[in-house]
Amino acid sequence: MAALRSSCAARLFGSATSRPAFRLAAAAPVRGFAQLADAAQESQTASGDQKARIKTFQVYRWNPDTPTEKPTMQSYSLDLNKTGPMVLDALIRIKNELDPTLTFRRSCREGICGSCAMNINGTNTLACLCRIPTEVNAEMKIYPLPHTYVVKDLVPDLTQFYKQYKSIKPYLQRDTPSPDGKEYRQSKADRRKLDGLYECILCACCSTSCPSYWWNSEEYLGPAMLLQSYRWLADSRDERTAERKDALNNSMSLYRCHTILNCTRTCPKGLNPGLAIAQIKKEMAF
Ligand code: SF4
Ligand code: SF4
Ligand code: FES
Repeated sequence: MAALRSSCAARLFGSATSRPAFRLAAAAPVRGFAQLADAAQESQTASGDQKARIKTFQVYRWNPDTPTEKPTMQSYSLDLNKTGPMVLDALIRIKNELDPTLTFRRSCREGICGSCAMNINGTNTLACLCRIPTEVNAEMKIYPLPHTYVVKDLVPDLTQFYKQYKSIKPYLQRDTPSPDGKEYRQSKADRRKLDGLYECILCACCSTSCPSYWWNSEEYLGPAMLLQSYRWLADSRDERTAERKDALNNSMSLYRCHTILNCTRTCPKGLNPGLAIAQIKKEMAF
């Protein structure tokens, strides 16, 4: 599990543009920050016997009800002695105890559902798997996934992402019935080919860290969908390999990957979408 907990190392990403209805997430202008300086704060004083360990979280805020107002960074301070170890624990405390208007997605709280993907200190990761650094002086900056349209605060609009998921037909396709009329069996060796692929939780951390996907997300499938595509290409039970390859055989769907490998570096589940893409390219070439 320790390996899954991202280190949240700093990384830069591109600049903001906007569109009606949604706002594109990127480095947000820190406007109105002074007015927010007295925003919800937890007491700086010691609580009980323990000296308070106050940590400041700067969180991206944007409200679709006031679409002409620019995004702001809002500052919240929490005593780490009273907060769980993960960034999601801090966000839940902020929402429950300091500011119920803060909006973010989460569900499982253990790296399974993919809901809490966001950009934390410059890295796309899952808030529930990202430890809060214990140095109290260092501020944490939390943004929505970069280059996504924002529904509200830390919630990205993943409509295009799911549309692309549907387009790759992520299910078993075959005509031949199973010999026993029940299960489609495969050898242990064939089953092992799916390791490192089936674990993908579709969190979108990889695709939203990919520069090619930032600029071509209408047509380029991006690392998450290509890893999912390979999951079905590699499945010995599937009988639509040729059709699946045909669908990828154009200049945009697959070949916009330039092997930058941001995707592999950021995956909070430790998967390797870059390798999956390389495997597809190899199989297409031969
Ligand atoms: S490959 Fe990793 S980062 Fe990409 S969607 Fe799957 S789990 Fe998330
Ligand atoms: S390796 Fe390909 S998919 Fe991964 S970040 Fe680079 S361009 Fe994007
Ligand atoms: S809450 Fe489910 S992955 Fe974080």
